[in-house]
Amino acid sequence: MDKAEAGPPIYLDACATTPLRPGVQRRIQDLQNQAWGNPSSLHSYGLSAAEALERTRVEIGSLLDADADEILITSGATESIHLGIRGLASSLPPGRILISAVEHPAVTAAAQALTPLGWELAMAPVDSEGFIQLDRFEELLRPPTRLVSVIWGQSEVGTLQPLKTIGALCQLHGIPFHTDATQVISQALPDWNTLPVDLLTASAHKCGGPRGVGLLLVRRAWKQKLAALLTGGGQQNNLRSGTESTMLLAGMAEALSQIQRSDVEGLPDSGNGIRGLRDQLEVRLCRTACIEAIGHPQQRLPHHLALLLRTPSGRPLSGRRMVRALDQQGLAVSSGSACSSGRNTDSSVLTAMGLPSEMRRSGIRLSLGFWNADHQIETIVERFERALQACCDD
Ligand SMILES: Cc1ncc(COP(=O)(O)O)c(C=O)c1O
Repeated sequence: MDKAEAGPPIYLDACATTPLRPGVQRRIQDLQNQAWGNPSSLHSYGLSAAEALERTRVEIGSLLDADADEILITSGATESIHLGIRGLASSLPPGRILISAVEHPAVTAAAQALTPLGWELAMAPVDSEGFIQLDRFEELLRPPTRLVSVIWGQSEVGTLQPLKTIGALCQLHGIPFHTDATQVISQALPDWNTLPVDLLTASAHKCGGPRGVGLLLVRRAWKQKLAALLTGGGQQNNLRSGTESTMLLAGMAEALSQIQRSDVEGLPDSGNGIRGLRDQLEVRLCRTACIEAIGHPQQRLPHHLALLLRTPSGRPLSGRRMVRALDQQGLAVSSGSACSSGRNTDSSVLTAMGLPSEMRRSGIRLSLGFWNADHQIETIVERFERALQACCDD
């Protein structure tokens, strides 16, 4: 196929990042035009920026059912995770931090950063579907566990963890619980008030918002114990210094409000609305024995499809090779999570799920967004089949 003739590749990598949702750029631009001052300045430019910032924080609070003072603005999920985990651990006596074996590298890195401070790092195992083994998890909550972090929606295989059960167990043991909700929030907005979670991380660019802004939600009781990682100007009650990006936050608010609307109206751009599109794709692609869906069959992100690839003779096919072949055919997907797909190493997530070593580099991920539609399915399947053929012919 002539690449130029086919137009731009169909984008199936929503879990890596998304384009801006309609109206987000406009909202960012309008806010920048109207309230571009520094929110900490005392003159009228500063006051109108501070007012706009507060209004947006309240808007986000009402979308997530959180109070504005429970919301910290960060540069994205990586920063929120480090602030939540390292910021809270610094006021606790060293003990054990418990994470799952399928965390995003940002959580693993934040937890590892505690070990020179006297903390022990434990990883709760998962089963072959990437689902946390609850009996092992509960055992690991025994003293001296003092902090828990578990990813809600796994970015590489899509599995959703039983957040309510995990949160209830942490509450029972009086242990603060952070969840990385980065991928979940792109599909449906959680109700913070009823969630048994103490700290929650989100990032705008996975949701159709701008890159460079994220949130850490923190319950008041734990917020008092949080120590800043970034110090200096003392913004956000000394918890996160640095001039707040009023306009990026407004872009995030717009994206989140569209996700909520889509959820309420059942629109096919996220959540339950996009599940049907993903399911159609799964049925069509998995007709051949070369392609197998992995992750939890039901408890998984609705826009996510994780596949394992083999040749017709049953040999493992490299996910990275398939990603390049798919790009040649006009499909943009990823092997593993975006952060690890540049490296040619075994996937730590597939390893934790107990896949045989020869299959741990054979995963790819398709993730859909508001820009995808039913009419693309036929083209996606055709292109996929051609890429698979090309890889098997080599
Ligand atoms: C589950 C999860 N957590 C954290 C991150 C990091 O997000 P950010 O790019 O906003 O720092 C990502 C991005 O891939 C992710 O998928």
